[in-house]
Amino acid sequence: MSENTPLNVLIVGSGGREHALANACVKSPLAARVIAAPGNPGISADCDCFKVAADDIDGLVALAVEQKIDFVIVGPEVPLALGLVDALQEKGILAYGPKADGGRLEASKIFTKKLLLKHKIPTGAAAAFDKVDAAIDYLETASYPIVVKADGLAAGKGVIIAKDHDEAVSTVRDMIEGAAFGESGKEVLIEECLYGEETSIHVIVSGNDYVILPTSQDHKQIFEGDKGPNTGGMGAYSPADLIDDDLMARIEEEIVKPSVAGIAAEGIDFRGTLFIGIMITEEGPKVLEYNTRFGDPETQVLLTRLKTDPMEIMLAAAKGELGRLDVTVKDQYAMVVVLASDGYPGTYPKGETITFPKAVGENEVIFHAGTRFNEAGDVVTNGGRVLGVTALGADLKTAADKAYALCDQIRFKSKYLRRDIGAKELNRQR
Ligand code: AMP
Ligand code: GLY
Repeated sequence: MSENTPLNVLIVGSGGREHALANACVKSPLAARVIAAPGNPGISADCDCFKVAADDIDGLVALAVEQKIDFVIVGPEVPLALGLVDALQEKGILAYGPKADGGRLEASKIFTKKLLLKHKIPTGAAAAFDKVDAAIDYLETASYPIVVKADGLAAGKGVIIAKDHDEAVSTVRDMIEGAAFGESGKEVLIEECLYGEETSIHVIVSGNDYVILPTSQDHKQIFEGDKGPNTGGMGAYSPADLIDDDLMARIEEEIVKPSVAGIAAEGIDFRGTLFIGIMITEEGPKVLEYNTRFGDPETQVLLTRLKTDPMEIMLAAAKGELGRLDVTVKDQYAMVVVLASDGYPGTYPKGETITFPKAVGENEVIFHAGTRFNEAGDVVTNGGRVLGVTALGADLKTAADKAYALCDQIRFKSKYLRRDIGAKELNRQR
């Protein structure tokens, strides 16, 4: 195949992030045919979807072979940690996303903390335990609040900020001895509580090369004013002016460069997204966590703002050619507002019919996340986060107004949204 022959692409996953990835790839001249597994109704409007689950490694490899796929883009963390990219490579199929060794940077908080400390990357002090008694001894002399983290993947639920000794001890017991966290809680990390504004950056990594994507800001809590329990993310905007040029320069020097170098020094040939959670403390930026995939809903705004073809970036990273790429960004703001099912992140109803507007404006997209077709072929709700309503505008206010106007035209019975996505930034700009 010549260097420029368009590729058959498989997108793995079924959320809003994957809808944004599929949407970018179907527009790319680098793609011949795009398919998704398992996808969702929104993705199925862009490309064919196949009923193979995102954690079915054998099924996904078989699908890729059968459909003559040249390039696989892996959305979520679970297949990465399970070695999907390793398995595809064995079949000679190129993929975007780290192999299982790189996937550990998200799948094991203890592995990551050791790497951060070894390579002197700023992060909170911490200690790891697999025995309750030793952890309790440590907690006797600790200061509170303190952060207790299940080592493994816990779908965003493995971090507890314990306000006092009693809560820390019961959390440690629950994780190590209880069933709630399964295997992921058999070991725990007890970490110093950091204070400041929380932010994150997306870095496309390919071995020793990297490109920092535009800044974005998620809104993790379910309620307005950043209150209530954490969710996967209720909305995001880009750029996030909280990270000004000086802070970005500092983050690049103190966090990005040593992270990329440290990961490579550990023998990990990381080709994918390193999405770094950061606390801006009084002492400077410190790493909270690494994710080894794009954020959801951050991807919806990031890809919308890229001038450079996102597929070109991911392909270059997968091939080890990222060093040659110049990534450019539109001089516009983007916002995504998540429409959720009332009750999320707890229990919520499913199966409610969704009414969509007849048409959406230019530079507006409704990304699907928790949706499915019912027997009648209507799109109904099927998850906590249902849709990601995304708009571009000349400034943040315009993007917000367009996104919220579109949100108001979408109806389902238990629709819940935060009305204050980007509000802090808008107040700062005033
Ligand atoms: P993580 O999965 O490690 O990012 O943790 C989830 C969330 O818990 C983060 O987004 C923070 O809001 C919070 N968190 C994690 N570690 C700390 C820490 N050391 N101090 C304060 N908050 C933390
Ligand atoms: N929006 C946060 C995440 O994807 O982990």
